[in-house]
Amino acid sequence: MAQANADMQEFWNRQGGPTWVAHEPVFDTFLAPVEALLRAAARPQPGERVLDVGCGFGTTALAMAAAVGPTGSVLGVDLSDAMVARTLERAGAAGLAQLNAVTADAQTAVLAADAFDLAISRMGVMFFEQPAAAFTNIHASMRAGGRLAFACWQRRDANEWVSVVGRAATAAAGIVFPPEAGGPGPFAFGDPGVVRPLLDAAGWREVVIDGYDVSLQMGGPAGGLEDAVLQATRSSELRRLMEPLDDQRRDAIVAAVRAALAPYTVDGRVVVGGALWIVTARS
Ligand SMILES: C[S@@+](CC[C@H](N)C(=O)[O-])C[C@H]1O[C@@H](n2cnc3c(N)ncnc32)[C@H](O)[C@@H]1O
Repeated sequence: MAQANADMQEFWNRQGGPTWVAHEPVFDTFLAPVEALLRAAARPQPGERVLDVGCGFGTTALAMAAAVGPTGSVLGVDLSDAMVARTLERAGAAGLAQLNAVTADAQTAVLAADAFDLAISRMGVMFFEQPAAAFTNIHASMRAGGRLAFACWQRRDANEWVSVVGRAATAAAGIVFPPEAGGPGPFAFGDPGVVRPLLDAAGWREVVIDGYDVSLQMGGPAGGLEDAVLQATRSSELRRLMEPLDDQRRDAIVAAVRAALAPYTVDGRVVVGGALWIVTARS
């Protein structure tokens, strides 16, 4: 594989992928409202050929495979070996022979022309070092008139699940978050003014960017405040920023995050606001 995305490849293989696989129910609970909006926008049909970009541990790919049925197909591509292995394991367990997954960089993956009717992604397209190359590569693999549907986060300050936690970490230990627009990172496409020209230049047309506000449950299906704190400090970009710190500053961040999330606890569950874009287009 080309090293076009070496930092992200290293991150998703060393930390991101294994963490997501180890805490699958936490991420699936958190992203459930995103999943519902994405499926509604994607409208997979029996017999269709689907590309899932940054398929992760395969939740959306499995749903797509069930929807397209045995006459269709789904290919998941992901930078992380652990994520791809888990997707294949789940496909096997579910008897979904129409679902395959490969470790590949969507920017450089060799995809046949006219190979897909639908390309989708649940929060997997914001980590490209060269997004223009990725969206051009994906476009080149679509049939004429094929559909693109992906979910991405709006700006950091529109997303309580990071803004509340981030403010707490900054106040406790001076954590400085990287700039958002231009990425790569979870908020690289927070500004629709970044996404639209990228898609236009890559040949996509009829680009529609719809905004949604959602309620996101932290800490997993039965999680409480401590599980939410673990999710916030263990599995987001905050963990990366905490890694070089000494124990005292890390402990200060954990305590500050706990205090910041406590007011969002309702009936033992921590529910925070999120804001996302659902982006659709045609090839
Ligand atoms: C936030 S996770 C989302 C995973 C999955 N779509 C889900 O919703 O559970 C982002 C995923 O994108 C993958 N990814 C990042 N850059 C990629 C690239 N250039 N090509 C393919 N996958 C990539 C990561 O390895 C990771 O699995």
